[in-house]
Amino acid sequence: MDNHKSYLKTLESNAIKSLETLQTLEEIENWRIEYLGRKGKLSQFFQSFKDIKNENKNELGTIANDLKISLEQYYKKKINSIQSSKLKINEIFDYSLPGKPNISGSIHPTIQMMNEICNAFSSLGFNIYEGPEIESEEYAFDKLNIPSNHPARDIWDTIWVENTQELESLLLRPHTSPMQIRIMEKYPPPIRVVVPGKCYRYEATDNTHEWHFHQIEGLVVDTNINFANMKSTLFEFARLIFGEQTKARFRCDFFPFVEPGAEMSVNIKDDEWLELMGAGMVHPKVLQNVNLDPEIYSGFAFGLGIERVAMIRFGINNIRDFYSNDFQFLRQFN
Ligand code: DAH
Repeated sequence: MDNHKSYLKTLESNAIKSLETLQTLEEIENWRIEYLGRKGKLSQFFQSFKDIKNENKNELGTIANDLKISLEQYYKKKINSIQSSKLKINEIFDYSLPGKPNISGSIHPTIQMMNEICNAFSSLGFNIYEGPEIESEEYAFDKLNIPSNHPARDIWDTIWVENTQELESLLLRPHTSPMQIRIMEKYPPPIRVVVPGKCYRYEATDNTHEWHFHQIEGLVVDTNINFANMKSTLFEFARLIFGEQTKARFRCDFFPFVEPGAEMSVNIKDDEWLELMGAGMVHPKVLQNVNLDPEIYSGFAFGLGIERVAMIRFGINNIRDFYSNDFQFLRQFN
């Protein structure tokens, strides 16, 4: 009897020890056959059981059965652990899968264009400033010589901001021109600045109109600034952005804060001219509004749409492409 007991004990410890060292499913299957198979060691023991002559057969039977159950459990555990570790290794190291693309962000074409324009003006001696997107009616219109009954206000269809304090009317700036006033109020001449920024208009969108877009405002104020200074500066800018050979032309236009006013177009090919910006000599009333004497000081101002410049430069024909989050479109500017 004791012989049988110790046989089972040795069988158990050998089985467990050897199972622990196994690595592959094939090895484990061989182990199962060796210990738990139909002709395995435990089966052989049960077969010889009937020949055993002993009163404590019951106890021996229980021990052998328990051993069978426990070896089966060891076996299942081993299989599970091998399978789950195999799964992990496969998940990490399946070299047959295509690689995950590493998508990195890039600077939006509008901002790329904005930086390029700012760099061009900065190389011509301009400083760069930024201003608020929420403006007061006074700065957006009144101080720019656009009184509330002026028909030109129609051009700047406005998105008003609800203002519970009702101290002043607030709006999302429809152009960057209010920064002309803020700059002149804060800094004495000589002034030579450009102000890039986002603008908003309450209008229907189409291929050339968005309800939000970006502008760059320019302002030069000093003694003895004349229209020729303005033309040469803006010509030089057009050459920096569109190339040495670029032709540009000025034609009369009207903006209430300049006198005379002009629009500047560039020649993109053959007979095709595209309007690039509005410009003009700062209106004497605007100078007076910021307490500068128009007899002493003069200046010029200009404003251009950044998306517009990018459209001309890159041959884009729908402004809405910029803000539709279309990856195909944006990827071209990586
Ligand atoms: N603010 C004008 C607009 O949004 C553009 C403009 C025209 C700006 C003439 C200027 C200027 O500074 O002189 O249409």
